[in-house]
Amino acid sequence: MAGSLEQVRLVAAGCRACDLWRTSTQTVFGEGYERADLMLVGAQPGDKEDLAGRPFVGPAGRVLDRALGDAGIDRGAVYVTNAVKHLKWEARGTRRLHQRPGAAEIAACRPWLDHEIELVAPKVVVCLGATAAQALLGRAFKVSRQRGEVFPQPAGHVITATVHPASVLRAPVGARRDAELAAFTEDLRRLVEHLPPQPA
Ligand code: URA
Repeated sequence: MAGSLEQVRLVAAGCRACDLWRTSTQTVFGEGYERADLMLVGAQPGDKEDLAGRPFVGPAGRVLDRALGDAGIDRGAVYVTNAVKHLKWEARGTRRLHQRPGAAEIAACRPWLDHEIELVAPKVVVCLGATAAQALLGRAFKVSRQRGEVFPQPAGHVITATVHPASVLRAPVGARRDAELAAFTEDLRRLVEHLPPQPA
């Protein structure tokens, strides 16, 4: 599909490539700077993102914003998206608990991610957690073992992976959570080394 990111976004809004559209509110397409050198790829929209129609605006997004800020990266200069663009959830009482997307859902959504990478043309694509890493680096990739490894791509960009910001929130409050946040922030800070120098 040729065209602009805005055109792809409009087509993706009607995506029926898997069944997740039936139970979610809307397609949550990526957003941010459309010429970004850095693209961050999460897993799938959470509850808040599904309702707002924007990626990373809930609790995990707040962790991401804080880590980006502490790493000296302006979120406005980054493009943020997800491997799967509809929320997958199961009811738990009155709450919607997110469920991990399966391989078929990740594969069905992959063309949208490929269009985003092609049109934004980032220098560095960062997978946040296992689902994004599975989408872009294959099912054998293990974030726990291969966090921070850099994989050059034929198109010229590199792909790397770190943990998902929600994993920081799963750590117990206190020293453990602080350490997880510091490690996540440090991973983001190191990414800057792969980016072209930014104007002062
Ligand atoms: N988790 C994700 O992976 N993506 C979002 O947009 C929100 C939470």
